[in-house]
Parts: sequence; C-alpha cells; structure tokens
Amino acid sequence: MDTITPAGLSNGWTPTSWRNCPIRQVPSYPDPAKLAAMEARLTRFPPLVFAGEARNLKAQLARAAAGEAFVLQGGDCAESFGDFTANVIRDTFRVLLQMAVVLTYGGALPVVKLGRMAGQFAKPRSSDNETQGGVTLPSYRGDIINAPDFSAEARIPDPNRMEFAYFQSAGTLNLLRAFASGGYADLHEVHRWNLDFVKNSPLAARYQDLSTRIDETLRFMAACGLTSSATPQIRETDFYTSHEALLLPYEQTLTRVDSTTGDYYACSAHFLWIGDRTRQLDGAHVEFMRGVRNPIGMKVGPSMQVDDLLRIMDVLDPQNEPGRLTLIARMGAGAVAEKLPALLRAVKRAGRQPVWLCDAMHGNGITTAARVKTRRFDDIVAELRGFFDAHEAEGTIAGGAHLEMTGQNVTECVGGARGLSEDDLGARYETFCDPRLNAEQSLEVAFYLAEELKSRRARRAVA
Ligand code: PEP
Ligand code: CO
Repeated sequence: MDTITPAGLSNGWTPTSWRNCPIRQVPSYPDPAKLAAMEARLTRFPPLVFAGEARNLKAQLARAAAGEAFVLQGGDCAESFGDFTANVIRDTFRVLLQMAVVLTYGGALPVVKLGRMAGQFAKPRSSDNETQGGVTLPSYRGDIINAPDFSAEARIPDPNRMEFAYFQSAGTLNLLRAFASGGYADLHEVHRWNLDFVKNSPLAARYQDLSTRIDETLRFMAACGLTSSATPQIRETDFYTSHEALLLPYEQTLTRVDSTTGDYYACSAHFLWIGDRTRQLDGAHVEFMRGVRNPIGMKVGPSMQVDDLLRIMDVLDPQNEPGRLTLIARMGAGAVAEKLPALLRAVKRAGRQPVWLCDAMHGNGITTAARVKTRRFDDIVAELRGFFDAHEAEGTIAGGAHLEMTGQNVTECVGGARGLSEDDLGARYETFCDPRLNAEQSLEVAFYLAEELKSRRARRAVA
C-alpha cells in the first residue's frame, strides 16, 4: 500500500519543484503579484476530487491494462466559460453513457468512463501568435488563461480566470456526480438517453434495438431478484474527470496531501495527462506529474522515440504500478502502422503494461480549401483500426479510445452516417479549439469499436 512519506520527497520532488525546470506552453502573466495572489487564494479552496476516488480509477485502469475493461475517454477539446449550461453537460454525459452501453454490450467488457470535462480549459498551441487581416496577437490558450475574441485586450492572460475555471469545474462535477448516482444513469433509462436530433438516423434504430435487448435482459434479471434498488451496478455508474495538466500554477494550488496515505494527489481531476508538446524528460510538466499519485496519462505522438519513451516511463512510473500510467497514442491514420508497433514492442519488452489508448483525433487534423480546421470521420476510424491491428500483431492490449466529442449537433468533422461534407461545416461550427465528433458520429464510433472488440475476441478464442 501507499507509504506515509509524501511521494517523491526523497528524490527532490515537491509541489513546486517544476518551477526549477524548463517549461513550455505556459503563459507569461503581465502582473506577477496578481498571479501570486490568485495562487494563494486557490490554495485555500477545497479540493475538487478525493484521493480515494483517484485510487478507485487507478484500480479500474489496471483492469483495462490487463484487457479486463475498456476505457472511453471523451469530451470537448476545450471547455468554455460561455457554454457552461446544464444541457451541454448533460448531453455530453448522455452520449458517453450511450457509447458505454454500446461498448459494454457489444464488447462484453466493463467500460471505464473518463470525461474530458470539469477542468479541460488550458490549451497548448503550435504558435504563440495568431494573425488575422494583417494584425498579429497572442494566441488564445483556453478560457482558464485568456479569451478567444480577436482583440489585444482579450488575449492578455488573466489569473482571475483560474477562479472562474475552478468554480465551473466544481459546478460541472456536481452535476456529473448527480447524474451518475442520482438515477439518470440507471440502465432502465437507456431508451431516454437517445438525443432528439439523433432519433431519425439509421444509428438511432440500431441504438433502439440494443436498448430493447437491454430492457429484456433487465426484466430477466429482475425476475431473478437483481433489481435497481438491490443492485447499485444497474442504478448508478462510475464517472471520472480528466484534463491536460498544462497550467501548472493552477495544478499546483490544487495538489494536496491525502490524509489517509500522506501522499500528494492532484485534486483538480481524477486523471491528468501530459500533452504531446510538453512531454520533455527534463521539463516542468514531467517533473510535476511524477510526484502526484493519481493515475496519469501521456500523449505519444509520431515524433516519440523508443528510448525516450522508456526513459520517461521510468520517471513517471518508477515502480511499474498497474493503472498508474496510460499512454495515449495519437499518430494519425497515415502513421499508426509505421510508428506504433515499435513502441508497443519496446514497452512490452521492458516488462511494462501501461494502458494504451488511441487518441484518434489529434493526428488527423486537416484544413479545407476554405481554411476550416476539420477531421475526416473515416480517418478517425482508420486510426482506431490501425491501433487494434498493431496491438493484435504485437500481442499487447488495446485498452481504449480517446475522442474529442460533444453531445451537441455540431458540424465540425466531415463524414459519418449522415455524410457531412465540407460545405456543411458552416452550419454549426462551434468549437473553441479542435473539431469534435457530434453525438451521432460519436455513437457511430462506439458501434464500430464494439464490433472490433467482439470480432477480435472471437479471433482470439479460435486461435
Ligand atoms: C488535446 O488533447 O487537446 C491535445 C492538445 O492533444 P495533444 O497534446 O496530443 O496534441
Ligand atoms: Co484538441
């Protein structure tokens, strides 16, 4: 079990040791005194999650690493202060529930549900500046840092935004907890999770068919004495939150010692990950993350070298603990077959079994002739297929999928059952950052994943 010495203290880690390391992607606040005052204020605020919850998630991730569960991580690219409404939260939650049901039923595996929600506010950018009509301004870095409007004023980093982000995270988490355990997620509600605008699509029919089979199963179980009131697994669900640990001044303020174990936990979310742009071995983000005891993730893009990956794993997970580390591969449909197998092989040879997720979004960005950022549905599915293929060939475990998605009927990614075209993108293009799958496209991905899980299991059984 956990020791009573705060994690890492013996090897130089403290919640502030990242400040001595080179750092990327962190804004320079014009007023350091205002920043320090906000940090002091947030340090007194209650934690948003508890260490025990993070440990429960870690145990579930350990099962996913062993192939006994499948992880579904999804949500906005960037949450926004303007979109903070019950409907937006509920709709994303319910698409995730629908997807989880499709996966649980089709894949016959428990699904670990991890929202990119209640804290996903800080964005790494490929360029520090943005130019529009001959005017160059600092890039938008997420609502926790500055505002998206294209004005000099809006783009100034403002520490007060951290407090808004904290309270929005608390409000979002409160509703998610209520939905997860207050009856909304009861499997008897499975028909009602279907969103109105999806109802007329071919996917809705497929979903209704599955819901009917679940109803029949529930009636059979009730006859055997397994009812909602007697069986919490039918009545409620576990739902966890996650975001990129990018804005370290904010993350530091919510890093607390768990009174049960004496270990440090990042208490802004259950699960944090390191982005593909901030995963330098000697960098501030790796330094911060090595000392918190939450389950953590790291993005693994096409530039990752085998030796670097193994060295970073040694730092982030020195004890090779089941469930501690999730590697989120985001190679792109065109590169997955070439780049992923060598990494899978080396990690396996090193005696490690992380959770491997496929982020099928961030390697598949394209810009249309009209200069709109989008992603093709077919590329997303192709990368997922390449991910499963690579794991099958290497004898490793495809642990789950990571998606940028929303419960809204947006038109940001092209393709899918409704065949959204580039001309359709203007209708409802609402993202503050990257293009997301809409509810229908998300559900379609879930049906695809369920088929993969089922057919690959059947092949393994024969082999
Ligand atoms: C993201 O997940 O929103 C992101 C920026 O990803 P990556 O670090 O993989 O580019
Ligand atoms: Co993104």
